[in-house]
Amino acid sequence: MTAVTLRNIWKEYGDNVVLERIDLDVEPHSFVALVGPSGCGKSTLLRMLMSAEVPTRGEILIEGEPLPADPTAERGVVFQRYSVFPHLTVEENVLLGLELQTSRLSCKLFGGAKRTAMDQARSMLEEVGLGHALKQYPSALSGGMQQRLAIAQALIMRPKVLLLDEPFGALDPGIRAEIHVLMRRLWQETKMTVFMVTHDLSEAFHLGTRVIALEKDRTRPEELERYGAVIKHDLDVWPPKLSDLEAHETVDSEATDDI
Ligand SMILES: Nc1ncnc2c1ncn2[C@@H]1O[C@H](COP(=O)(O)OP(=O)(O)OP(=O)(O)O)[C@@H](O)[C@H]1O
Ligand SMILES: [Mg+2]
Repeated sequence: MTAVTLRNIWKEYGDNVVLERIDLDVEPHSFVALVGPSGCGKSTLLRMLMSAEVPTRGEILIEGEPLPADPTAERGVVFQRYSVFPHLTVEENVLLGLELQTSRLSCKLFGGAKRTAMDQARSMLEEVGLGHALKQYPSALSGGMQQRLAIAQALIMRPKVLLLDEPFGALDPGIRAEIHVLMRRLWQETKMTVFMVTHDLSEAFHLGTRVIALEKDRTRPEELERYGAVIKHDLDVWPPKLSDLEAHETVDSEATDDI
């Protein structure tokens, strides 16, 4: 249950202004879907949220505190591809985070600590439907299974904030629908705050509680470099705003009155 605040965030690479004036107050347990044209800065925004990039201006707060300067376990990440380690088995991929966290020097756990970590890893893998594939290597998994593994790898660290960069973009529609169900369930169970970049508007509205569209306002080629993308639309999808519901009720009752 984590609130995230962005205050007047700008990101520039040299002369290229990518994002400008990004102000956002994200409530705990939101599922924010970020959409917008290619190159508008969606991934850049996610990278700033994971501390892989620093804003040129502005500040990002997590639960009211400034964002840590380096990536931390409380912010999990899943990319479209290559989130998992190809030379580790399914089980080892998920165990690694726990090993690194508890035993930074040797990256190995022993005895009871190891057994506890393995139990945790296995139940996480059961949870995402990979309980039968513990000893397999990622190359033997389908795209959907690899993304389930990437999700398990991120969630085993119990992140407060999960950052997803087109996580389901490379999956077939059927597999995508299945993984949507899984993602929604995990989001509900864990109460994480999620930011998901997607090119798929129906995915954004299906999973998101809030859909944010980034876009550059100016279109002339000479202006594109000088101005960054801004928040063009910010839509509450769920729960519906009380004011919206009241508006509907008024319309409904007017409609009934007419009959
Ligand atoms: N490390 C970097 N150095 C310089 N420019 C960068 C860097 N990273 C991103 N950019 C530029 O920032 C802009 C936004 O890139 P970003 O990857 O955030 O876009 P995006 O919205 O995620 O696009 P896509 O939908 O294609 O993934 C692009 O113009 C890109 O060239
Ligand atoms: Mg991107």
